Amino acid sequence: MEISPISGALGAEISGIDISKKLTNTETQLLQENFLKFKVLFFRNQNLSAQTFVSFAKHFGDPTIYPFIKGLDDTPEVIEIIKTKDDKKNFGGSWHSDTSYMECPAMATLLYAKETPKFGGDTLFANTALAYEQLSQSLKELLHDLVGVNSSEKGYAGGRATGMSKLSKMNQTYNANATSYETEHPIIRTHPETGQKSLYLNLSHTSHFSGMTVKESKPLINYLCKHMIRPEFTCRFRWSEGSLAIWDNRATLHHAINDYPNQRRHMLRITLAGDRPH
Ligand code: SIN
Repeated sequence: MEISPISGALGAEISGIDISKKLTNTETQLLQENFLKFKVLFFRNQNLSAQTFVSFAKHFGDPTIYPFIKGLDDTPEVIEIIKTKDDKKNFGGSWHSDTSYMECPAMATLLYAKETPKFGGDTLFANTALAYEQLSQSLKELLHDLVGVNSSEKGYAGGRATGMSKLSKMNQTYNANATSYETEHPIIRTHPETGQKSLYLNLSHTSHFSGMTVKESKPLINYLCKHMIRPEFTCRFRWSEGSLAIWDNRATLHHAINDYPNQRRHMLRITLAGDRPH
């Protein structure tokens, strides 16, 4: 197995492994360690069915049911993310951390590419632990007392995207009865495995600080969200058919770029159960 970092901030490409096969304990341990170290791992040229995708995901945690989109019949933990040639909106097209509006947000997400556009459709990732580290000591101290209110109804929430035909119009995939979620989480969270602190807010879901109005909160939320996506904290992944990414939602943000009109993109996605941020 070879591990090649793709930027100075986060992300590494793993080659020399067939993840459709049962992994050895050594391979699993190496992948888990590098997942925590690089925060996003990428694999290429993999041939996975929905079942083998779930089996691979289980090396990192417990697959969960995504509330807004109905999963596949045989593997309900796997949802399809399809942008058709006619769709204008995409899924995940703004910086966010998955399901941060839930009491126990997803600890990680896996995305597997079935069909990719000829150009465009890359995904950006940002290292929110690095972004935290580079704040001044005084701002870090101020942020430690702040709690963010995260809502699935704020602005753009991926699963609620209305312009996506496969997600919003087809009843077999879109869970129209899903309730909305709102939860408070600390703005600085400590990673349960690495002990690293990171910023935990995003423009897609964090509406305001607890105890403050939206208007009062906005300038600082905007500042922090802009800070977290400074180019030197990010990496960018170019997808091709058979690529897979797994990212750590506890210490990253991601953004699916919507720059491929009239082309189709088809992904399979799994989220892994997480704990309550502290
Ligand atoms: C997501 O936000 O989970 C989707 C990312 C992508 O499609 O690139």
